[in-house]
Amino acid sequence: MTELIVALDVDTVHEAQAILQELKGTVTWYKVGLRLFTAHGKRAVDLVRRYDGKVFLDLKFHDIPQTVAHAVQEAQKLGAAALSLHLSGGAQMLSAAAAVRPRPKLWGVTVLTSLAAKDLSFLRPRASVPVLVRNLARMGWVNGIEGTICSARDVAALRKSLPHLDMRFITPGIRPAAGALDDQKRVMTPAEAARLGINYIVVGRPITKAAHRLKAAQAVLAEMRQAAADALEKP
Ligand code: C5P
Repeated sequence: MTELIVALDVDTVHEAQAILQELKGTVTWYKVGLRLFTAHGKRAVDLVRRYDGKVFLDLKFHDIPQTVAHAVQEAQKLGAAALSLHLSGGAQMLSAAAAVRPRPKLWGVTVLTSLAAKDLSFLRPRASVPVLVRNLARMGWVNGIEGTICSARDVAALRKSLPHLDMRFITPGIRPAAGALDDQKRVMTPAEAARLGINYIVVGRPITKAAHRLKAAQAVLAEMRQAAADALEKP
């Protein structure tokens, strides 16, 4: 089952509340990222939880192991159900985060899609982005990170090169077939994501900027359900 996470990429608690109000009962997961969290912190998380929503706290932790472990503890107290961290923080940082109990699910960012090989060359001359993505995903998994955040287009290759790892995938860059691309380039439809068995898709503007948000969210969910049903019917 592929779950939908709606990205609350807005500036005010008021705007976030309007989205939650419209989607309550239909969407369970919401992403609170740097924008909303920097502006409103705990208020934003509390708001989602008041609507019985689950919070994916997308703050992409990257610091020394002890600091990240403490931040994971605080995210647990805050009520986050999942949080993101940079896999490039290294094995010790990842295992320190994973050792916190109880804690939110940990989802690791491989290489930001805004970075190309030339941007990474100061760190790693002749870097191959696909190799870095694969190595980081594997390092995350062996150190207790439950999910990999990556482009939906990378999931099949990662599954193939790391078949022994039972990894969850969380993918942004999803666009309903009929929708606008906004600034996303390498997109995938909700149906394709569901067919690939991606665990969570993160969708922002196609839902939050829609004239009728509930209908837009229902359309994404229906597209994924239909794809899952079609896959079941195949012999
Ligand atoms: O509005 P849209 O559906 O493009 O939003 C997708 C969400 O996923 C945003 O919160 C964005 O920051 C995030 N994201 C992304 N592409 C990445 C990584 C994260 O769009 N490569």
